[in-house]
Amino acid sequence: MGHMKPKLYTISNAAGMSLTASSLGGIVTSLKVPGPDGKLHETLLACRSAELHHGNGYMNALIGRFGNRISGGGFSLDGEFHALAQNSGGKKHPCSLHGGETGFDRCVWNVEKYAGAEGPCLAFTRLSPDGEEGYPGNLFVRVVYTVTEDNAWRIDYLATTDKPTVANLTQHAYFNLNGGVRDVSEHVVQVDASRYTAVDAGLIPTGEVPSVEGTALDLRAPTRLGDVFARAGRDKLLKGASGGIDHNFVLDRTAPGLAHAADFLDTESGLAMQVYTTEPCVQVYTANFLTEAVPARAGQTYGKHWAVCFETQHAPDSPNRASFASTRLDPGDVYRSTTVYAFGTLETDDCDCRGDDCDCGHGHGCRCGNGK
Ligand code: BGC
Repeated sequence: MGHMKPKLYTISNAAGMSLTASSLGGIVTSLKVPGPDGKLHETLLACRSAELHHGNGYMNALIGRFGNRISGGGFSLDGEFHALAQNSGGKKHPCSLHGGETGFDRCVWNVEKYAGAEGPCLAFTRLSPDGEEGYPGNLFVRVVYTVTEDNAWRIDYLATTDKPTVANLTQHAYFNLNGGVRDVSEHVVQVDASRYTAVDAGLIPTGEVPSVEGTALDLRAPTRLGDVFARAGRDKLLKGASGGIDHNFVLDRTAPGLAHAADFLDTESGLAMQVYTTEPCVQVYTANFLTEAVPARAGQTYGKHWAVCFETQHAPDSPNRASFASTRLDPGDVYRSTTVYAFGTLETDDCDCRGDDCDCGHGHGCRCGNGK
């Protein structure tokens, strides 16, 4: 399928929210949502063309078959070892990252546009052949992007296999609610996670799942990212992740199903985004590896900390960690996962605090209404 020329598709709802994506890797090149000023605001960083996104941090692409890292050269299933390409970590910490050399972000997908029950949809389908990137089983994958009538980008993932395998699909969207005019220091983040998966120097889970209490990863209350970045040079956890957040948070879910995972808001544009997912975890990544050399959208320059990715997922290296929730998929079973990025605006009326001297944590200029 690699020979097919990638095409761009756009869907939009009655409010004007629009999503444009490429058949190459399901890469989203634009996601515009209505802001408090009634205008449409760009919410994602992007490169000048979808072809450039792979080499620039998998920007806004579908990730598979396995999101994040797998250590030890591969994994065993039912006693058989499956070697994976070591496409990250160099000589010191080799691992497989985001599906291997030619992960789902580099494949051209079949795309179908249709009107779904909740809004306009783009369905991406692909048969990943047995042995692709070392993974066993013919894996049929269908991922549906919906722009819902209530201004959310909903993603429904489905996969089936004809041999036992593993699957961990996600989306690597780089959110910047300022349309990418500056870094995300004035954005506020909140994550419903009391624990995270600890990692070694190669960002491979050690198996420990410590509490976030007292660490820079305690994002249970709304936290201004500028305050996190200010600690990044001295804090051990942030330093270990190249000077920012790049960690797998284990969500405090009380039941299976779609649950709130995180909040993200920008006190300058007044845009707010809520993340909901059926997944047990989310990788929060503050674009620590993004550089000014990124071939950004015309007229823009990006750099370190210019976005946040909320990659909903099972924990990294799960195939090698029996204590983590299983990513195994067997013939006859159906892999299903849903994530919703829901957009709205900060309340403008009933907060007197303006953020300057307030418990809400949102920082200067906030009008969220959650303060004292
Ligand atoms: C990983 C980072 C990695 C980045 C690549 C994230 O999901 O956690 O470590 O550098 O993807 O864009």
